[in-house]
Amino acid sequence: MNKDDILIRLEKEEDRRQVEELIRDSFWNVYKPGCDEHYLMHVMRDDPDFVSELDFVMEKDGRIIGQNVFARTTIETDDGRHVPVLTMGPICIAEDLKRKGYGRVLLDHCLEKASRLGYGAVLIEGNIAFYGGSGFRYSREYGIR
Ligand SMILES: CC(C)(COP(=O)(O)OP(=O)(O)OC[C@H]1O[C@@H](n2cnc3c(N)ncnc32)[C@H](O)[C@@H]1OP(=O)(O)O)[C@@H](O)C(=O)NCCC(=O)NCCS
Repeated sequence: MNKDDILIRLEKEEDRRQVEELIRDSFWNVYKPGCDEHYLMHVMRDDPDFVSELDFVMEKDGRIIGQNVFARTTIETDDGRHVPVLTMGPICIAEDLKRKGYGRVLLDHCLEKASRLGYGAVLIEGNIAFYGGSGFRYSREYGIR
């Protein structure tokens, strides 16, 4: 992977169909027969908690090869407070370019941008083998369940 070949930018309205097809093809049969993450993406952009400033696509040679998105959520504490944080995904890389380093670059870029916007934590359910390399830890270590 050559970092000079890629561009990470915000998703545009005209990218939406292409992004949803990318998600469908990348998630297809990975976690269950078929997938529904592309439909999730289709509806979540209209959610008031969707963070448009963190709706990223990764381009290589003019083709969208990756995407990642975030939504606002809260941690509910035992004493009844609501701590604002982010949740992340779907995140994906095009089927033919998986396991070449693109996902790590996209993830780290997005986390850096989220941090700069002032968000303090990102909660996800995912494989620690991928996310751990970008600093994610098990939530149980922080008493979050
Ligand atoms: C998960 C995904 C985004 C990772 O992107 P990628 O470009 O394939 O990953 P990278 O090549 O950057 O890999 C980075 C590291 O994570 C590890 N990794 C990547 N995908 C992994 C997986 N599915 N399981 C275990 N480890 C994985 C790699 O071994 C690599 O480790 P290293 O840095 O020690 O070499 C991509 O494979 C994908 O789109 N998968 C299908 C959709 C999906 O599962 N999304 C995440 C839902 S939680």
